[in-house]
Amino acid sequence: MALTAMPTVQYEELIQADRVHGRLYYDPAIFHEELEKIWHRHWVYVGHESEVPQPADYVTRQLGLQPVILVRDKEGAIQLLLNRCMHRGNLVCESGCGNVQEFRCIYHGWTYSTTGALLGAPYSAAYGPSFRKEEYGLTKVPRVESYRGFIFASLSPTGVSLDEHLGYAKGLIDQFVEMSPEGEVELCAGTQKQRYHGNWKMQVENAVDNYHTTFIHQTANDIMRVRIGVDLSQTTSEQSPALSRYLGGGHALFDFRPLQRQMGKILSLSNQAKGDGATEAWKAYVEAMEQRYGRERAQEILQDGPPHGYIFPNLIFIQLQVRRIQPVSANESYVYYQPSFLKGVPAEMNTARLREHEWFFGPAGFGSPDDVDIFERQQLALQARANEWLILRRGLHRERVEEGGIQTSHIADEGHVRGIWQHYRQLMLQP
Ligand code: FES
Ligand SMILES: [Fe+2]
Repeated sequence: MALTAMPTVQYEELIQADRVHGRLYYDPAIFHEELEKIWHRHWVYVGHESEVPQPADYVTRQLGLQPVILVRDKEGAIQLLLNRCMHRGNLVCESGCGNVQEFRCIYHGWTYSTTGALLGAPYSAAYGPSFRKEEYGLTKVPRVESYRGFIFASLSPTGVSLDEHLGYAKGLIDQFVEMSPEGEVELCAGTQKQRYHGNWKMQVENAVDNYHTTFIHQTANDIMRVRIGVDLSQTTSEQSPALSRYLGGGHALFDFRPLQRQMGKILSLSNQAKGDGATEAWKAYVEAMEQRYGRERAQEILQDGPPHGYIFPNLIFIQLQVRRIQPVSANESYVYYQPSFLKGVPAEMNTARLREHEWFFGPAGFGSPDDVDIFERQQLALQARANEWLILRRGLHRERVEEGGIQTSHIADEGHVRGIWQHYRQLMLQP
């Protein structure tokens, strides 16, 4: 039987100014092209330095579908190695995290150091006198760089630098880590893994969709109104001065500051760890912040609160949480939620952050489980093919470009999502 070639995907047609086509979420051919043009080529977030704090600590990850080991070698340097034995292509490391003397492939016992060097191959005389161990170390991912503890990697040896890729999104990371008086966060509180039967881009769009919050998260909103006196539907209302911004490079953020100033309150739950503002822990935190940043800047950081935004293609910051997207197939994805701890703060502050994470994002929380359910419903609904378009036109008539070329609009508009799609289109149109 002859194989029929898949028709070439016309991304110019599937991604338009005000709508995107359903095929982008379910077509396996598009998913495979995404792997090649985004996940296996572009900068991708891999993990945080605090996840491998000690020499010989490691975690296993994937870049797209390619398995990698993020390891701190015995000299303390970060290494990112392909998790593929040089002998017959087995995983050399199977568990998700740990501390090792060496990596030993269970198939025939080849062993590798924490830098990936081949240490030994059993009965190696059979490979003959020309066999050189130096030639069979684990393959290193060609480009690995960190920004303020966040490690990104690219499987392509060439391309834009991480600095260029992040661009304005560096500000998102700055805002996140500067909540700490040491300017550092730690992702050591554990990881929550969510699997869903839906496309990875659904999590992207949802993370920067303010429109849904009043509806899907109604129960959570009711609780917040009672607990901290903040009505989240205020953010979405037409009168809300809160903004959405497209930062270029596929990155986007929500800017709650204008609304917070108007309300005289911060929307972040994580800052509510202060209780009535008079706890000893909160006072010690403010003092440490003022010592580090100066009084004025410290007050500004506390007033602004942590960020809410997205760094293309797989890193999300939602207040105190770091979220990492892992595609599996066109119809399946994982999302990893990691609540962050601030370095240099009283332990009660971090405990409070963890509790705040749990109540909204936890497996039995009032927020995130509902979003994941939505992704699965959406993936099912996309099987209806009579009209395949998804509308993307909120605020199209009123978005504006600010200084520096940043596209800005009302927070519940979709200018920033259109920006993400245009960036995606540009990458997918590459040869
Ligand atoms: S496949 Fe790893 S030792 Fe053979
Ligand atoms: Fe949500």
